[in-house]
Amino acid sequence: MPETIQVLDKTFVKYITDKQIEEAIQRVADQINEDYKNDTPIVLITLNGAVFFAVDLLKRIKVPCRVTCVKVASYSGTQSTNKVQNLIGLTEDLTGQRVLVIEDIVDTGRTYSHLVEMLKSTGLRDMRIATLTYKPDAYKLDLPIHYVGISIPNKFIVGYGLDYNGYGRNYNNIYQVVE
Ligand code: IMP
Ligand code: MG
Repeated sequence: MPETIQVLDKTFVKYITDKQIEEAIQRVADQINEDYKNDTPIVLITLNGAVFFAVDLLKRIKVPCRVTCVKVASYSGTQSTNKVQNLIGLTEDLTGQRVLVIEDIVDTGRTYSHLVEMLKSTGLRDMRIATLTYKPDAYKLDLPIHYVGISIPNKFIVGYGLDYNGYGRNYNNIYQVVE
């Protein structure tokens, strides 16, 4: 029997193991180390969910970089909402910088497009995104996703930073909702 967990009113089944997560992160780190080998990017972590991925990824990044955080939110429960809120803004000067955005998940892409809009006027040189998980069937944008850890079907997941109404982030593995 696969392991199940209860988060609030929903049951989730183990879906991606900590081992698979670690392998995915190493793959992404290898690509980033290669692509940025002559650069000093600014790594932009999107709070709260991406913190877990960002810490494990950054420990494997060998290029000199700075790290900062922003906070945007679009989800309520298990549904993406149309409105993306800016909760903590950007304080760094990004003029001429290469920015690498770290996300825990790209779903519809609304949060990503909001970030692109927010960063457009900063004078940055180049922006890329690295996401641990990606739902290609839900994604609605033409913008490229540069680094993907694991592509998943359009089903709600928790664990390793991903939450259901604020709970469930503190698991080593990723779990998928049982419908
Ligand atoms: P998007 O704006 O629709 O791409 O959604 C991105 C945000 O929604 C992420 O940063 C997460 O906070 C949240 N999200 C999307 N799908 C899931 C999921 O399956 N589990 C937990 N959070 C999710
Ligand atoms: Mg969330």
